[in-house]
Amino acid sequence: MNLVYEPKKIIDVSKSQATFKRALNCIPAGIYGHLGPSEGCMVPVSSYPLYMDHAQGAYIWDIDGNRIIDYMCGYGPNYLGYNDPDVDAAAAAQRKKGDCTTLISDITVEFAEEVCSTINMADWAFFAKNGNDVTQFAMMIARAYTGRKKMVLTKGWYHGVSPWTQKLGYSGIVEEDVCNNLYIEWNHPEQFEALCKQYDGQIAGFISQPYQHGNFCDNELPAPGYWQKIREICDKYGVVLIIDDVRAGFRIDIKGSDYHYGIKSDLSCFCKAIANGYNVSVLCGNKKLLNATSDVAYTGSYWLSAVPFAAGIATLRKAKALNATEENAKKGKKLTDGLKEIAKDNGFDLRVTGEPGMFYLRLANDLPSRVIHQDWVCECVKRGVFFTSHHNHFINYALSDEDIQYTWEVADEAYKVVRERYPQAEFIK
Ligand SMILES: Cc1ncc(COP(=O)(O)O)c(C=O)c1O
Repeated sequence: MNLVYEPKKIIDVSKSQATFKRALNCIPAGIYGHLGPSEGCMVPVSSYPLYMDHAQGAYIWDIDGNRIIDYMCGYGPNYLGYNDPDVDAAAAAQRKKGDCTTLISDITVEFAEEVCSTINMADWAFFAKNGNDVTQFAMMIARAYTGRKKMVLTKGWYHGVSPWTQKLGYSGIVEEDVCNNLYIEWNHPEQFEALCKQYDGQIAGFISQPYQHGNFCDNELPAPGYWQKIREICDKYGVVLIIDDVRAGFRIDIKGSDYHYGIKSDLSCFCKAIANGYNVSVLCGNKKLLNATSDVAYTGSYWLSAVPFAAGIATLRKAKALNATEENAKKGKKLTDGLKEIAKDNGFDLRVTGEPGMFYLRLANDLPSRVIHQDWVCECVKRGVFFTSHHNHFINYALSDEDIQYTWEVADEAYKVVRERYPQAEFIK
């Protein structure tokens, strides 16, 4: 690719780093969970901007004043662009009327109707706050409906932080938390059928992301016929089929990822993109599970607050009007096609996996330590383009062609820097 550009400025992150030092004294891990460095995706931590001052569209301005093109989108919620004016106006109007009140707003029903007319499999919608709230609820409904205990998960899963979704050996997790779980490999429906035979009458639910979008590995799409086979096995053995669309929802198909891959789930979990960053998650279900769902005790202080519902309605309506999901996928394809070409021009083999609106990057001709890719990501971040090394990325609708062009220039410069740094790497010669 023919790129002509001025060398990029290296951002100063000293205020972020000083704030992080303060945080380490008063907040566990400084920044806990996926937004902080503890998951190993920010190497070295000392080079990363860690705190924002404000955000708009495709950008974050950090507290050192740097503008950063953000390809992590808050790890999923930014779908139309940060502070989308239509979504924010709908939320502000509802805030004036009331948010967390004893009598709930009738906007709750309007949001449920909007969700059910958008998501293909949905006969009803239940609202909570985080993705974990609805994956946990889905598991409980599967148990309530079937009167069975066991759950089948696919390797590479992430369904939140409820103990049953975590792994034995993780801090705070004991055998009893995970003793009803069974595991299969991604794209191996025959393993699922074998478990259904072995544990006939004991498996309540099958829970899975619509495609394998795990961390630290290439992401994998379903093989042709995979989801149809899983649906058939669930029907044959009376197992509730749960799609965890918390991350991929609205990134592949606005009607739901199960619809995109040609099936209807029994339960689908949504969060992240559904209200463009306002805090709401949604469990959608089919009619047969309605009574069992009504029977399960499940609620939270803020789950029926009205402001996020107004934001959710505005997000879904705007996304449909703009074809945002398809447009984001086109932007993702354009960006990553260019990145692959730029990598190749510099002697690197960049692999892009997953769906285009939610792509995963890996350098195939890295050193075994994966250090070159990590360094390349860091050199991009230092020039104001926020990628991360071992997690999928996200595209938002506000990302422009100029942003993509800028990203390509940064990617090129960053590849040149790491080429110099690793002259011993075999492929560079
Ligand atoms: C596929 C998937 N399921 C569940 C969750 C949990 O969502 P939350 O962090 O909002 O509880 C996530 C969060 O990243 C996710 O990606």
